Amino acid sequence: MSDMGLDQIRITSLQRETIMNEMQRRLFLQRLGGVGIALFTVPGAFAEELIRTPSQTEGPFYPNKLPLDTDNDLLIINDTITPGVGEITHLTGKVLDMKGNPITNAVVEIWQCDANGAYLHTGSDNGGKRDKNFQGFGRFTTGSTGEYYFRTIKPVPYPGRSPHIHVKVKQGNKELLTTQMYIDGFKGNERDGIYRSIRDPKVRAAISVPFTPIKDSKIGELAAKFDIVLGLTPNG
Ligand SMILES: [Fe+2]
Repeated sequence: MSDMGLDQIRITSLQRETIMNEMQRRLFLQRLGGVGIALFTVPGAFAEELIRTPSQTEGPFYPNKLPLDTDNDLLIINDTITPGVGEITHLTGKVLDMKGNPITNAVVEIWQCDANGAYLHTGSDNGGKRDKNFQGFGRFTTGSTGEYYFRTIKPVPYPGRSPHIHVKVKQGNKELLTTQMYIDGFKGNERDGIYRSIRDPKVRAAISVPFTPIKDSKIGELAAKFDIVLGLTPNG
């Protein structure tokens, strides 16, 4: 203690000034740090945000009577043997908030027309040709990773529309998003009025999904990945 006391006594006025400056600097940094922390926790202030999935029209063909089977395999209805017709596609993705956090317990619903362009809806065009083995609608509830999975068909065009799959995300009774996703690079996309209603190329890219052949699949299955980014804050 005495040594320390001596050292303290021996400091020059210049040293004292240096120490005072240093203390003030630390105090300043502490205050700034506080401000900094506050800024960095404001959602979206500095963190890189994902592109929010745009909403798209629901359209007239959300099933007016749900199928007997509403699971995530649209190719097989209950335990029938004959699958629906079409190019088999494994559609996966995550439901995320703007910061990439997974949204759990989100119900993802998809609906789409069958290979003949007929929807599971009494008002559908081409209803007489509807593929009775295609489920046309399915649901999946996300777990802790926010992931969902459907087995379905690659969407086909029908008069007036580029191929698309309708998607709705719910949580409890709350509808969080209704949108549509498209085949990336499909030429007709540019002529589809609903697709074209989105002007920003980055936002268009968010709903344009590559349908990629699965290597080694003997039956030509495809994989499609569509992440759904909701405009939610982590606590929202
Ligand atoms: Fe549609």
